[in-house]
Amino acid sequence: MIALIGLPGSGKSTVGRQFARRLGLPFLDSDHVIEQRLGCSIREFFEREGEAAFRDVEESVIDELSQQHEGVLSTGGGVVLRPANRVHLRERGKVVYLRSSPEEVFRRLRHDQSRPLLQVADPLGRLRDLYAERDPLYRETAHFLLETGRPSVATLVNMIVMQL
Ligand code: S3P
Repeated sequence: MIALIGLPGSGKSTVGRQFARRLGLPFLDSDHVIEQRLGCSIREFFEREGEAAFRDVEESVIDELSQQHEGVLSTGGGVVLRPANRVHLRERGKVVYLRSSPEEVFRRLRHDQSRPLLQVADPLGRLRDLYAERDPLYRETAHFLLETGRPSVATLVNMIVMQL
C-alpha cells in the first residue's frame, strides 16, 4: 500500500486519485471509509463524540487498510498522531509526505466548512500550530517528501512514480 500523508488541504486525495489511476491501482480514502462505517460525516462525529473517539475509529481503519497490498491510500491529516498508525503505514508499505506550508493550505481551505479542526476564530494560527506539531511526525513516518507549493498535480504524480 502506498500512503499519502500531510496537512488537510495538501492534496492527498487529488494527487492520490490521479496517481492510482496512473498505476492502475485501487484508490482508497481512509476518511471516506471511516464515514461509511460511522454512517455520518466526520464533522458530525467529532461534534458528538469528540476527537479521541474519532482517533480510535481511525486507528482501527488504518490498521485494516494498511494490510492491503495493492493500492493508494489517502489518509486524514491527523493520522500521524497515533504511534500505531505511524508504524503500520511505514512498515507495511511506502509513505509519501506531501509537504505544504500552513499559509498555502490556508489559501486553499479558507472557504471549506468540512474540516472540524479549522472551524475556529483563527484558522491560520490553528494551521501553524498543527504544522509545528505534525511536520516532524510526517517526516518521521514518510519514506520520502514532496513539496506541493509549485508543481501541478500531474508533475507531483510523475515525481512519486520516479521515487518509488
Ligand atoms: C483531520 C483531517 C481530516 C479528517 C479529520 C481530522 C486532522 O482529513 O481526518 O477531520 O486532524 O487534520 P483531511 O486531511 O483529509 O482534511
